[in-house]
Amino acid sequence: MRMYDIIHKKRCGLALDEAEIRFFVEGYTRGDIPDYQASALCMAICCRGMTSGETAVLTDAIMRSGDVVDLSMFGDLSVDKHSTGGVGDKTSLIVAPVVASLGGKMAKMSGRGLGHTGGTVDKLESIAGYRTSMTREEFIETVKNVGVCVVGQSGDLAPADKKLYALRDVTATVDCVPLIASSIMGKKLAAGAKSIVLDVKAGSGAFMKTVDDARKLADEMIRVGTMCGRNVRALVTNMDIPLGHNVGNSLEVVEAVRVLRGEQKGDLYEICVALASNLVSMFKKISVQESQLMVAKSIESGAAFAKMKEWIAAQGGDVSMIEDTLKLPRAPYSREIASPCDGYISHMNTEGIGLCASLLGAGRVNKGDSIDFGAGIELAKKTGDYVGKGEKIATLHASNEALFADAKEKFLSSLEFSDKKTGKPQLIF
Ligand code: URA
Repeated sequence: MRMYDIIHKKRCGLALDEAEIRFFVEGYTRGDIPDYQASALCMAICCRGMTSGETAVLTDAIMRSGDVVDLSMFGDLSVDKHSTGGVGDKTSLIVAPVVASLGGKMAKMSGRGLGHTGGTVDKLESIAGYRTSMTREEFIETVKNVGVCVVGQSGDLAPADKKLYALRDVTATVDCVPLIASSIMGKKLAAGAKSIVLDVKAGSGAFMKTVDDARKLADEMIRVGTMCGRNVRALVTNMDIPLGHNVGNSLEVVEAVRVLRGEQKGDLYEICVALASNLVSMFKKISVQESQLMVAKSIESGAAFAKMKEWIAAQGGDVSMIEDTLKLPRAPYSREIASPCDGYISHMNTEGIGLCASLLGAGRVNKGDSIDFGAGIELAKKTGDYVGKGEKIATLHASNEALFADAKEKFLSSLEFSDKKTGKPQLIF
């Protein structure tokens, strides 16, 4: 088999067979196929597409390129969730303990933030002592005893994706449904859970800018996951507005704690209930409606918050920071942003808001950059809210006052105002 022929076949719009796809993924992972041929094939896939069958084989090959976690000891109880990434998206911090409090086994490998999006691992590391790296045995043991364990992605999981993603990033081949679907699902399937809920974000702060594109990606990921023998559901949710009120690592932990204590309702609570209910419905084999009641009760009764504390303690985190969130890292400087005019906030460019948080030190521009756990944004107003001129829209937090000027400019340039009442945006599509 020759890579040249595989590239040519895809360039002509023909479907690749299983052997050809595996030849490519295995050869590229081993280093036998050079980057220029792999990138030519990725580009041909972007231009010509793939059938669901081809995408399923590509996913399977990516999954098998490294370790595959065996969660079979948990039977149908093993669950996982994945978000395609966004701004203020701290849903995993809430959904994981809720689901574990109801008997699910959440064995989760999460990522770090990059660019304008946040990552669960960074948020958890704002809790002193929390270990995001564990041996495979410790990981499984924690899931067994506590019902939840959240660690960073092990280097041995789906190495083909690691190489391919870095290549796609620099060859304009990221935004392509079969390549994104196989990249995400290859990793999720390798992580081993039987039931998976995908939170596919749509809007200015997401990868998929339109609901239609997000739906196509969601459909493909469900198809591929199902073909590989997993139960997969997806929600397409709004990322044209930051989720919740806080953006930034420890600020997001604070907000997650508020939701788990039953002190905060609204968009974040509703999306978490929807995601958690779907997972509970899958592992308990009951309706989503019935699951919703159980999820709400777990939060109201304090069971979910108790589970969060148990989980954080099991991974070495300082639980007193969860009990008293004033102990979490806080940036020493704050700056309020006042509205420049009277009117309704008609749109928030959510990528811009995420970049503003990064400018404050909450995110990284390049992989490996260090982050400031206490930095970020607290939003007092969001899309649909009325603000009077001079009224507070947000508070910025940073460790260096010099960061406020650029961040403020980025924040204000991300907002649009209107005289007309715009209404609250739809949350779940
Ligand atoms: N996230 C991934 O893991 N892979 C992609 O291709 C896009 C987003």
